[in-house]
Amino acid sequence: MNYENLKKILFKLPPETAHNLAEVVLSSVAISPKLQQKLAKTYLVEDETLTQTFFNKKFKNPVGIGAGFDKNGKMVKALHALGFGFVEVGTVTPRPQIGNPRPRLFRFVKEESLQNAMGFNNDGATVVKERIKKVYPTDFPLGINIGKNKDTPLEESLKDYHFLIEEFQDISDYLVINISSPNTPQLRKLQNRSFIQELFSKKTDVPILLKIAPDMEEKEAIDLCVSAIEAGASGIIATNTSTNYSLLPNPQPFGGISGRVLKEKSFKLFKAIAKELFGKTILISVGGIDSPYEAIRRIKAGASLIQIYTAFIYKGPSLIKDINLALLQLLEKEGLNNISELVGVDIK
Ligand SMILES: Cc1cc2nc3c(=O)[nH]c(=O)nc-3n(C[C@H](O)[C@H](O)[C@H](O)COP(=O)(O)O)c2cc1C
Repeated sequence: MNYENLKKILFKLPPETAHNLAEVVLSSVAISPKLQQKLAKTYLVEDETLTQTFFNKKFKNPVGIGAGFDKNGKMVKALHALGFGFVEVGTVTPRPQIGNPRPRLFRFVKEESLQNAMGFNNDGATVVKERIKKVYPTDFPLGINIGKNKDTPLEESLKDYHFLIEEFQDISDYLVINISSPNTPQLRKLQNRSFIQELFSKKTDVPILLKIAPDMEEKEAIDLCVSAIEAGASGIIATNTSTNYSLLPNPQPFGGISGRVLKEKSFKLFKAIAKELFGKTILISVGGIDSPYEAIRRIKAGASLIQIYTAFIYKGPSLIKDINLALLQLLEKEGLNNISELVGVDIK
């Protein structure tokens, strides 16, 4: 069955039910090498010119799945088979939590956008760690995105992040500090220089990236990213979902907005950060990427890697393939030997 037909069924279900169903199916793919092979044959584009090495690991292509799709690490190998060059699990919190009351995920079909207020629903570090141990090391990069528990007081947040770094440092290729979700009360208050400095003071060998919100002022975002890099961060992921509710007609009054309506806002902040940090660290662009054109625009603006969540829901795995094929075509046309030669050409 092609994705358009599958989507007709999935979109008849409430969004979170559809997601849970997809998770059941993809969890079984994740433990079946045969099914993975079959899917990879259809969707996974493998070509040396698309590969880059960061964090001592080879990224098979520059398109990853955004955090939040596989919060519990159940679908890792299936997502790779669907074409993603790298996979990010999480957000994982120290202790399990159920997240916010339902409904907490909303489709805006006409706008190809989503609004979510999940609130870090996840199985917690102990359970996710056991699951990840069974698949790691993977033959593609695996990142773990980490966040504080809702009931951890803000002033004790550091303990949660340092605990999670300890827990996952040996079973991941990179970690992501999530202090940019709008769905954990006060979390974004941690987007400040002194917290960042304390956070990165911890000694660890695992590369740690910072994921930021699209709603920050440009200057504030740049300062924060610069201080993160100075403090030892290995990269920046921009951006998370937005709380600017004017992006959507008839929005919910809570949660974060993603997808097509986030595109320009996310790109604008990414560009501002890239202007300052391109060449000094690894930059990952995420937010509203929904076409080969948009993927190429982010890469040319300085993104070594990109991530996609919402457009994967609306367009399915062929989008990932289309992006990678378009990149291959462009590299050939421009006479470039590797995707890295395309990264940042618009700002060099
Ligand atoms: C339902 C949903 C859940 C998400 N959960 C997380 C999460 O747990 N951690 C995180 O860092 N980002 C999370 N995100 C944000 C995405 O990773 C991404 O940054 C954002 O959606 C923008 O990309 P997109 O427009 O391609 O979706 C979530 C997004 C959605 C739609």
